[in-house]
Amino acid sequence: MLTAAENKTLTETGFETPMGDVFRRYWTPALLSRELPTPNSGPVRLTLLGEDFIAFRDSNGEIGIVNARCPHRNANLFFGRNEDCGLRCVYHGWKFDVHGNCVDIPNASPEVASRLKPDAGIRALQVREWGDVIWAFLGDGEAPELPQFEFAKVPPSHRFVSKKFQQCNWAQACEGGLDTAHFSYLHAGINDGKKVGLHQVGKSREEIAGQNEPTHRARFRWLIEDGEPRFTVLDHAAGALMCAARTADSDDVYYRMTQFLMPNHSLAPGNFPEDNNLGNTWVPIDDTSCWIFCYCWNPDRPLREDECRQLASGSGIFAEVDDRYVPLRQRENDYLIDRDAQRNESYTGIRGISEQDAAIADSQGLIVDRTNEMLVQTDLGVVRFRQTMFDAAASVASGSEPLGADRPDAYFVRSGDAVASSKSKLEDVVSARFGQMGGYPR
Ligand code: FES
Ligand SMILES: [Fe+2]
Repeated sequence: MLTAAENKTLTETGFETPMGDVFRRYWTPALLSRELPTPNSGPVRLTLLGEDFIAFRDSNGEIGIVNARCPHRNANLFFGRNEDCGLRCVYHGWKFDVHGNCVDIPNASPEVASRLKPDAGIRALQVREWGDVIWAFLGDGEAPELPQFEFAKVPPSHRFVSKKFQQCNWAQACEGGLDTAHFSYLHAGINDGKKVGLHQVGKSREEIAGQNEPTHRARFRWLIEDGEPRFTVLDHAAGALMCAARTADSDDVYYRMTQFLMPNHSLAPGNFPEDNNLGNTWVPIDDTSCWIFCYCWNPDRPLREDECRQLASGSGIFAEVDDRYVPLRQRENDYLIDRDAQRNESYTGIRGISEQDAAIADSQGLIVDRTNEMLVQTDLGVVRFRQTMFDAAASVASGSEPLGADRPDAYFVRSGDAVASSKSKLEDVVSARFGQMGGYPR
């Protein structure tokens, strides 16, 4: 539980707010590379941390993310012409390059224009294109090196990235990614009126009993059979590895290990070493909506065409979205909840793991009231996330760098699952599964 003041601090990321100052010390995903597909393609509206920008790719392929307002008389540059290495306001023709310099003022004499130009520049963010994502730095001063996420370092054929819109505050959606206890409920299947693993939906009792369950399937059963995972949080140089332990078969423990990376990234559990990896970033648009960037990658092989097709049409953490990346099952249509399906097939009656997550995060309110909650042991990851964010705000307020901002190397980590004897020490399980990729010491 937080005080009202703490909740405000955690959730507000606008200009000159404590958490806004934290976010402005890190690179943030701003949009997907494919949203600016070619030189001179159409400018795109962009709101990040409550500030309005226009993004465009100029004739040379360089990307600019600039203030949305033309300094002449405040026309919105979204309507601008992207031409000849710059964005030209269509009201009276003033033109700006990707660095925000004003390069033409055609409605004034050459003398007046050259006097005005130095003061007519607009704010332009530092921008990088990396991992099929366009990253922006909203802070002042020199930006650090980009966080060394594995998805961005693998060859392009090994990854698929997308994003989805969510109509609630970024922090509660992010907490949903760190609270992996909910998988035992929110993402459960139903068979014969009972909560079951996803692999058991629609199967007869004989089929289930006769199933030769490989670990990949058995884990769905363990998720259901143990709905009270024990959490341990291992801090590291860019965030924390959050480990949830559930009872498996015989003497074994099933670990689901989630990475939280400052200030708004998570690498999801649910994968064994040979599987694809998954990650998310929750990017505040404003205080009541966010973009969730979604990454899938395989370090060892290219993703197959059918895998990419499935991710693009909505699967796992990827939502089924329209051409503006708004999920088809959303707040306005109650996520197309199907009460018959809720009785007979799935715990929620909502199709898609992503949509189930979105529905429940939205349902907490546009900004969840954390003064009014009753936390239990399985909320440990959520509690530690909040504390880490408050520590970061305190660091920035005192003039130091927040956790991870000066350690881009420490973002080269993985998340995932492991099965081990209950006698094994967690630290040994983590190092056997990840080596140094579990996290770098603080
Ligand atoms: S408002 Fe942009 S040129 Fe006049
Ligand atoms: Fe979930």
